[in-house]
Amino acid sequence: MENKKSFASDNWSGACPEIMQALNNANAGHNEAYGELDDIYTNRAIKKFKENFGENIAVFFVYNGTAANVLGVSHLMNSYHAIVAAKTAHLNEDECAAPEKFIGTKVLEIETEDGKIKPEQIEPFMQSIGFQHHAQPKIISISQVTEMGTIYTPEEIKALADFAHANNMFLHLDGARIANAVVALNTDFKTMVTETGVDVVSFGGTKNGLMFGEAVIFMNKELAVDFEYRRKQGMQLHSKMRFITTQFERYLTDDLWKKNALQANAMAQLLKRGIETIPQLEVSQEVAANGVFVFMPAELIPKIQKRYFFHVWNESPIGKPGMKEVRLMCSWDTTKEDIEGFISELKKS
Ligand SMILES: Cc1ncc(COP(=O)(O)O)c(C=O)c1O
Repeated sequence: MENKKSFASDNWSGACPEIMQALNNANAGHNEAYGELDDIYTNRAIKKFKENFGENIAVFFVYNGTAANVLGVSHLMNSYHAIVAAKTAHLNEDECAAPEKFIGTKVLEIETEDGKIKPEQIEPFMQSIGFQHHAQPKIISISQVTEMGTIYTPEEIKALADFAHANNMFLHLDGARIANAVVALNTDFKTMVTETGVDVVSFGGTKNGLMFGEAVIFMNKELAVDFEYRRKQGMQLHSKMRFITTQFERYLTDDLWKKNALQANAMAQLLKRGIETIPQLEVSQEVAANGVFVFMPAELIPKIQKRYFFHVWNESPIGKPGMKEVRLMCSWDTTKEDIEGFISELKKS
């Protein structure tokens, strides 16, 4: 039986055919384990990352996004340091307190309307610096795309990086959906990340066509010294490393990442236009990438979810009685027919 399509998350989709092919090709014969020395797949993937982000980076591969976030930032801080992030940040709300457990850190959260934080919202936390009773802010963490489907411009990222560095802090970018952001702004990784001053990136691919795997990129390789030990101690060193790195090599070849992200983003725009034709629905956030947030009458939600599953993001949005805010995610494999089917289901209900 064919799996039903949904709008639940971009990791409800499978791996794209090009990635499956790459995995299959890498399956032949023996290859050095753990990504060491002569592992051709890992070496080629690292070369691709350097082409996209610059030669001075150090890149390490892990299993998932939570580990990339936790291990990446943990390398730049101590347990008495704090991470400043939007309240909605995955690192804050959706990692089961892994940063708190594995780093021992405190996350200082900022309430936002759109998932984005600004330097002036971080400023008040600076009062803690040098005060021995408070955890010391050390990392600013942003998500690109944000958990509310919005995007930081390179100028906004640079302002945060400048603020971080002026205060002896680092900027972490959770790029679980970085490809969707880069194509939405019609830019490239160097402009968005290397030239803005980001210090460490969690580079995702699973939401955009990979089967699994994430990369931690230190934008200055000197910051990465000894990270291999932290990754191993953090239980994230994959022995058959080629199966992560062959995926990234393929992903960064022939613009596969762009093709997949452009499709997901285009479908989100189509979905937004469809939603706008239905009077009782209201798009609640700017549709910048592949997510569409919508105020939906509460009684409608379970009926539609039976056919097309999606998540409720906010059970009781302020000023919207009887409504819930839902999140509709498009993926690399979302089609025009999926959108049309979903819109017609909404119109029927
Ligand atoms: C913004 C963001 N960061 C990171 C992740 C990665 O999480 P995981 O550990 O499930 O790979 C996700 C996945 O939902 C996410 O949405």
